[in-house]
Amino acid sequence: MTPPVSTSSVQKRARSPLPRRLLVTGGAGFIGSAFVRLCHRQGRVSGDADSGHCIVLDAMTYAGDRDRLTTVLDASRPTQLVVGDICDRALVDHLLRKHEIEAIVHFAAESHVDRSISGPAPFIQTNVVGTFTLLDAFRQHWDACGQPAHYRFLHVSTDEVYGSLAPDAPATSEHSPYAPNSPYAASKAGSDHLVRAYSRTYGLPTLITHCANNYGPYQYPEKLIPLMFINMLLGRSLPIYGDGQQRREWIHVDDHCDALLALLELGEPGESYNIGTTDEMTNLALVEVLCDLMDRQGIPLPIAPCRQLIQFVRDRPGHDRRYSLNCTKLYHELGWHPKISLETGLKDTLTWYLTHRSWWEKLLSGDYQTYYQQQYGSRTSAP
Ligand code: NAD
Ligand code: DAU
Repeated sequence: MTPPVSTSSVQKRARSPLPRRLLVTGGAGFIGSAFVRLCHRQGRVSGDADSGHCIVLDAMTYAGDRDRLTTVLDASRPTQLVVGDICDRALVDHLLRKHEIEAIVHFAAESHVDRSISGPAPFIQTNVVGTFTLLDAFRQHWDACGQPAHYRFLHVSTDEVYGSLAPDAPATSEHSPYAPNSPYAASKAGSDHLVRAYSRTYGLPTLITHCANNYGPYQYPEKLIPLMFINMLLGRSLPIYGDGQQRREWIHVDDHCDALLALLELGEPGESYNIGTTDEMTNLALVEVLCDLMDRQGIPLPIAPCRQLIQFVRDRPGHDRRYSLNCTKLYHELGWHPKISLETGLKDTLTWYLTHRSWWEKLLSGDYQTYYQQQYGSRTSAP
């Protein structure tokens, strides 16, 4: 990984005034909530007259959880949670006007690839129609405010829009063609094209980011890393799709959010930016690292060593073999670099799941069990 630099060294481009009044969509989700917490930690929203505020708009689907925001939602703090749908145009118009919003930081999405395969409709509705609703409302708002140069529509997209890479292919840059393979990736690609069109046609000051796989605290247990940690603690099998040789690039969620803040200030309107680390590994190798980390905790486990729990199961249809991002633009034009090594990030994440057992245990009832049974029941059996 590239050596860390402090945020203060992110100064290669001219700074524009940082938008201070933010509408954060999907801010009760995994990454959106980490972004809001980071804004608070950095004093970007503090309640002072000069400081900004965050309005979180979140529909609280199965993936949304208010508990991710408890540290920033007490009465004295300038973050508010509005429960509502990004497809609700009247609500979005109202929030933009009432809170004099300067930037939308758009995380809200249906985000899980496996769910997009079993039920794509909500992905089209939220990811495509929802993004269109926000764009159109924000354009009208930006016009009504006199088209201020520092307003931004920051669209949080994914590396999955570039599709699958061959093992020896060069990493994808912002100029690589789109080739989405899952309904999730296709819906994100569709939303990216709408954002681009609003920039080119109307001059709306947009930014698009393509980030690698995130991990860290408060990630919903349907995703690979929390699912593996939790299954180890419960003595359940660790399902590896196919041969486990698919490669992913991993970034700590706090690094992702730090890059988004840098881009709000320094990103060139109309441009897109890859956000990654070069920390690329196969799923099997990663799960083996997770098993070894867990074994070293010296805690009682239902089954140990954890590698015994690994079970190869039927592959995900259309499973992308490899993602890898070329982040030259972000690293060189903006001078931003990730700060959290994969080794440290994974250790800290495991510690977090061990010390926040009540958070993830509450998610394992009801809906999650039904999902787990449908997703894995026919693929694998308990060890
Ligand atoms: P998540 O599933 O944890 O959170 C999504 C949030 O959006 C939830 O709080 C949910 O309630 C909310 N939401 C869903 N539909 C909504 C709607 N119609 N209106 C309002 N809110 C709605 O997802 P995440 O992992 O935090 O991902 C956030 C964004 O980052 C997504 O756009 C995703 O495509 C992108 N992304 C994720 C990763 C990753 O590794 N998780 C990597 C790159 C990009
Ligand atoms: O690359 C960015 C994307 O990363 C984001 O855009 C998505 O929102 C996010 O969900 C994530 O998508 P992935 O499909 O890569 O993440 P997931 O955690 O579902 O799976 C990571 C890899 O692990 C993938 O190759 C599938 C594999 N996998 C996953 C699960 C849940 C398994 O082998 N077994 C599993 O049980």
